[in-house]
Amino acid sequence: MKRTVEEHASRFDDHAAEYDESQDSEEYKACAGLVIELADPDPDDVVLDIGTGTGAIALALAPRAKRMIGRDISGGMLEKAREKAAAEGLDDRVEFGEGRFREPGYEGAVDVVTSNFAMHHLSDEEKREAIREIADLGPRRFVLGDVMFFGEPDPDEPFYSPEVDDPATVGTLVEAFTEAGFAVTHARRVHDQVGVLVGERLE
Ligand SMILES: C[S@@+](CC[C@H](N)C(=O)[O-])C[C@H]1O[C@@H](n2cnc3c(N)ncnc32)[C@H](O)[C@@H]1O
Repeated sequence: MKRTVEEHASRFDDHAAEYDESQDSEEYKACAGLVIELADPDPDDVVLDIGTGTGAIALALAPRAKRMIGRDISGGMLEKAREKAAAEGLDDRVEFGEGRFREPGYEGAVDVVTSNFAMHHLSDEEKREAIREIADLGPRRFVLGDVMFFGEPDPDEPFYSPEVDDPATVGTLVEAFTEAGFAVTHARRVHDQVGVLVGERLE
């Protein structure tokens, strides 16, 4: 992790008010769309979205699941997510609260875990720990959309700012999924530095 959790939280607190308007790239939209599509929850599923931010994934999935749990380290982003849930009449289906990848702060059973554009703030070792932690929650599926390298890292290309980001290669992530007990069933490239992985739990 190139900055502490507290530094990331503060950075996103400052950014919360204009975050949604700033996410206007085709690649961000495509990545979020794939995460929503591939999460594919059943109506009786509990879905946990980590690094939920202002709720882009959580609010899209909430009408399709029994219960949606959103976790984030930024109080400012969570506040915005709660406002949007209320405005969309979804506040009885979604619970937003503080939690982080390696301590999601949710003890109940979880069927599907999602995360979009958030895990790349962790170092590769922290990502491995986080993926193991997610596997321990027992979901049948984990869908990760994120900045990830399909080719050589290139800070001159979009989505990778080395001063704040620490993305992994797709190979490193596939290895971490596999070690944690997930079979990787999809590895979808959105951009050379953005993609979506789906892990299905091995019985
Ligand atoms: C780029 S935003 C993505 C938000 C949302 N998932 C989306 O698709 O729009 C990244 C989010 O990850 C959160 N975040 C960063 N590090 C985190 C961590 N260790 N645990 C949980 N959330 C984290 C930030 O606070 C921020 O809200």
